Amino acid sequence: MSSLPPKLSQAIESEVSKINFSLFSEAIKELSLLYRKNEKIFITSLEQRLAYIGVRLPATYCAILSSFLEIKKHFPDIEISSLLDLGSGPGTTLWAALSIWPQISKITLVEQDRDFIALGKKLATNLTSPTINSLEWLNLDLSLTPNNKENFSKHDLVIMSYSLGEMDSLTQKKVLSHAWQATQNILVIIEPGTVKGFNNILLARDSLILLGANIIAPCPHKEKCPVLENDWCHFSVRVERSSFHRRAKAGTLSYEDEKFSYVIASKQLSDNFYSRIIRHPLKRPKHIHLDLCTSAGLSRVTLSQKNKEAYKLARKASWGDIWEKNKT
Ligand SMILES: C[S@@+](CC[C@H](N)C(=O)[O-])C[C@H]1O[C@@H](n2cnc3c(N)ncnc32)[C@H](O)[C@@H]1O
Repeated sequence: MSSLPPKLSQAIESEVSKINFSLFSEAIKELSLLYRKNEKIFITSLEQRLAYIGVRLPATYCAILSSFLEIKKHFPDIEISSLLDLGSGPGTTLWAALSIWPQISKITLVEQDRDFIALGKKLATNLTSPTINSLEWLNLDLSLTPNNKENFSKHDLVIMSYSLGEMDSLTQKKVLSHAWQATQNILVIIEPGTVKGFNNILLARDSLILLGANIIAPCPHKEKCPVLENDWCHFSVRVERSSFHRRAKAGTLSYEDEKFSYVIASKQLSDNFYSRIIRHPLKRPKHIHLDLCTSAGLSRVTLSQKNKEAYKLARKASWGDIWEKNKT
């Protein structure tokens, strides 16, 4: 289970406690409705922004963290000293990035909503990072950036977390190319784990491959995505729910599962891996089925208890893990 850094969690709780709890609960309902409509999201009120940091930010933070841990698996010694976040909202990514790479010294956040920036700045006053010497919030609408221009300077890590899907398709294409131009090393795109979110990831993956990107995760290859129409490749991370989150949603569970789709592209090649587990392993008496994505397409392998070593590994394996051929 993933959770927010205590300083961020306390800062959020302190902001949320400034408004009446029933207004906060109402705003959570409005936000869920906006998300359920699956259209362009317009967050318009202070209450909705507080609802975002109270109930959505913990989930997007954990999805971001999970994708950053994936980068570490492929490049354990990677040095990240600069971060560019396009569609930063209240700055969720900067907290996740600093928890993995505390040496980051330059952070640039681009966001169209100035009130989200103001809220993000308030939260960021609780950061204690001695290495940051530049933390810049740019109030910009990415749909208005000029086409044929390098709009952003190079950063080691560039991310678009849950923001690509809020843009129209022309803007998506343009921003992706600007994001790739600005990438010194790694570009991460994360979207909700829905059919629509996955389709945005698929288009982004295709565009990035055409731009010469190496695909690091989740795909073990650069071939055409073998996931069939009407299906979607997504992953899940378990997120701890705060007490006010539980109260506002009248929920009893201490966690929720955030489903997300993502792609990580890199300027450097990483070691190829054989396959990724794309569903919960099906654990049956005496055998386990694993659904894998491989460069030869989708496949299901069955590990029998008789194959002691492989069976033991499969028992420990989870949805989203890399699975090597020699394990089968
Ligand atoms: C769902 S929020 C995600 C915030 C943050 N990245 C996270 O993961 O928690 C999407 C953000 O993208 C921003 N956004 C959408 N379209 C944008 C555009 N054209 N230019 C700048 N920001 C944009 C929205 O204002 C919003 O704050």
